[in-house]
Amino acid sequence: MRQPLAALITITTLLAVTACSASDSSDSSAGKDSAGSKAGADGSPVSPAQIPGLRLANDSSEGGSCRWATSYPVIPGADALTAALKAYVEKQRDSYIENRKELDGEGSACADGASEDGAGAGEGGHELNVSFSFLAASADVVGLRFTRYESGGAGGGLSDTTMWFDGSTGKVVPALSLISDNKATLLQFANAVKNSLKDSDGVTPALLTKALVSSRESSLDNLSFTPKGDLRVAFSPGTVGPPDAGAVTAEVPSDEVKPMLSDFGGRVWEQILNPGKELTLDGNPPDDAQAGAPGKGAADKRSIDCLTSKCVALTFDDGPGQYTQELLKHLAEYNARATFFLVGRNAELQPGVVKEVVAAGHELGSHSWEHRDLSQMSAGDVQTDLDRTNAAIKKITGSDPTVMRPPYGAHNATVDAATKLPMILWSVDTEDWKYHDSAKVSATVTATVKPGDIVLMHDIHATSVAAVPSMLEKLKADGYEFVTVSELYGPDGPKAGAPLSQRQDAFGRG
Ligand code: NI
Repeated sequence: MRQPLAALITITTLLAVTACSASDSSDSSAGKDSAGSKAGADGSPVSPAQIPGLRLANDSSEGGSCRWATSYPVIPGADALTAALKAYVEKQRDSYIENRKELDGEGSACADGASEDGAGAGEGGHELNVSFSFLAASADVVGLRFTRYESGGAGGGLSDTTMWFDGSTGKVVPALSLISDNKATLLQFANAVKNSLKDSDGVTPALLTKALVSSRESSLDNLSFTPKGDLRVAFSPGTVGPPDAGAVTAEVPSDEVKPMLSDFGGRVWEQILNPGKELTLDGNPPDDAQAGAPGKGAADKRSIDCLTSKCVALTFDDGPGQYTQELLKHLAEYNARATFFLVGRNAELQPGVVKEVVAAGHELGSHSWEHRDLSQMSAGDVQTDLDRTNAAIKKITGSDPTVMRPPYGAHNATVDAATKLPMILWSVDTEDWKYHDSAKVSATVTATVKPGDIVLMHDIHATSVAAVPSMLEKLKADGYEFVTVSELYGPDGPKAGAPLSQRQDAFGRG
């Protein structure tokens, strides 16, 4: 991610020397099938409680638009990491949007100024999803795996990469810096990788040699440890074999790789084998903001009748995130209650924030596990996704979410059948994710809102959260009550079945 180590150039020279014999010895592996050589997902051993002050920076589109969603962690004391992660996800998003514009032409849902119900609406044409998991986050090391999913076409499919941060220097380091930066060790490492793959199917020896020889970060950017301390070196499809053979992963056993590790690699290895320590970086807050539950009990139940009062249901999607707590303060000032459609992964990583949302009397809804377009998934995958999201929320709060909203508002018969909760869409779309303009968000709502409306916003954007006080001030002056979706529909709540986007019989309509 940063400039290559001097050793990356050294490895080039060394491997060029050993290339011939290595190729000869592994010729016999060509032509076999590739079972067992795919990169596997590492179950993350990291609990969010180990990371003081962890917050997420999320971004996504919504509506029937150009579809993308990204997420990365913001860790106090790891500013260089935050900057690198931001640059990485923005590059993924921007190149996806540019590609879509080029491939789709003028009708592209990703084109500038395309309406949110423009091309691709309802068809779920294309989608980018960038999510992460922690490989390590304890003592003074952080490792992350980013998973990039793009639906359909060239560049589509699933891929991943790893990123590493050394808290002792405050720097993001290339994955290969897990290995000692000296010629003999790097040669040993390269040979260990080759040895691991010598009987592997889906590996073309000449390509493997070329990948190692011309390495730089591009080929050796995906290094991680198994829970036992074995080192996994993953190569993207097409790097060391035919593209249709998929990703290829070399595994160097723990006892073999241990002597090859750099000081940094050794510290990471220790944390992998003894997980659970807290992450301690300069700049970590002394008290974990997540650890302390707010000093108040569950908010009072209230009774607002939207058949006799002017009601509006504000909804906030895609969080929780780094601005959610700020939003809670604004809502409390106006005695406003709202509905938060949570992304399951984000809830799991910020449980303290979720508890604060509930304690303040707001309603929780499901917005899927990681903001994938559910209408493009199989029935089984949709069910797994929704069940996992509900379970994550219940684990934190003790209760299931009460409503559900599909990402992008995209649903079909499969999604409808899998959804047991009332499906809630919206009647006022601020398009806040597109404009990032507080005044516009506030004005859109105050100019168009009617009693019974459901307003779509996102608490993952600073500009949306900043829009709330002036919006509530104006609406309050107009006599509005700010209710949750369930409050809007009265004592029995909203009904499951057909999607709901507003309460038609609310007081003051027509
Ligand atoms: Ni969303």
